[in-house]
Amino acid sequence: MTVLSVCNHKGGTGKTTTTIHVAAALGLSGWRTLVIDLDPQGFLTHTMGIEEPPSDQSVAAFFDADADPGRIPIQEAAGFDLIPSSSTLTRRMRDLNKPTDVLWVREALQRLDLEYDLLLFDTAAAVTVYSLNALVASQHVLIPVLPEYQSVVGGEQTYQTTQLVENKLNPRLNTRQFLFTQVDARKRIHKTYREYIREKYGEKVLDTIVRTSTSLAKTRDGATTVFDHDSSSRGALDYANATDELVARLQSASEDASSEEAPAAAAPNDLSAEAAPEVSEMLNS
Ligand SMILES: Nc1ncnc2c1ncn2[C@@H]1O[C@H](COP(=O)(O)OP(=O)(O)OP(=O)(O)O)[C@@H](O)[C@H]1O
Ligand SMILES: [Mg+2]
Repeated sequence: MTVLSVCNHKGGTGKTTTTIHVAAALGLSGWRTLVIDLDPQGFLTHTMGIEEPPSDQSVAAFFDADADPGRIPIQEAAGFDLIPSSSTLTRRMRDLNKPTDVLWVREALQRLDLEYDLLLFDTAAAVTVYSLNALVASQHVLIPVLPEYQSVVGGEQTYQTTQLVENKLNPRLNTRQFLFTQVDARKRIHKTYREYIREKYGEKVLDTIVRTSTSLAKTRDGATTVFDHDSSSRGALDYANATDELVARLQSASEDASSEEAPAAAAPNDLSAEAAPEVSEMLNS
């Protein structure tokens, strides 16, 4: 199973929209896709028309030693499956401050042994224990970036966080891709920031861009995706193309990784004393 986190430490960069539409596009292509909503605000869950479930039937069960993640009812969304979020994640976060608290999701996934082709995490706009759990459980990261100052800074910080996680916690996390979202070709500043990111990160930037699209903005109103209600819109076209390109890049990264000796993932007890302060620092920032 391929595991991908959708992450940018800055808010409103299109993480949730991207997670939904990549998952839906893959569902249309016959991929078995699971989305896990790791944002305590649960916008993805709400956007898909799913009521907040009791805590033990949400992703919060992943962070409870007494809960069985195998008993979480998996919800059906628009062409993909979903493990919903819960607002109890916000309260639970106060207790999740040990270095080993970044391992809950990876360990739950190991126990669950899910049969999906792709697992996507939607994450909140901050370095929290939840976004770190997503990164520790992933092989790939997709960083949606709106080509404006704050989103670009957030995207670059996210990139650095992924490097730190790869070095200290999860050597399998070796692919990062930036995806420009909400691009307005008329805005000079968008062109400037796109050029800046492309020059600095080269092939780590998807060629496909997602343009601003009223049909994407509208998907907040219902449980459907743009593929259902406006399949000829540029939002549908852009996310279909972006998903094709992303899949091709993930597949080529996986082939490269399997031709090299796969490094072992850090076991819980392998967390070095050296890693702990930096992880704690990230959790406290
Ligand atoms: N390509 C687009 N065109 C027009 N509107 C868009 C596009 N992508 C996203 N939006 C809108 O922009 C807003 C922010 O998008 P989204 O919720 O996906 O961002 P996010 O990064 O998940 O935000 P948060 O950090 O709050 O979780 C939403 O209202 C969404 O409908
Ligand atoms: Mg979001």
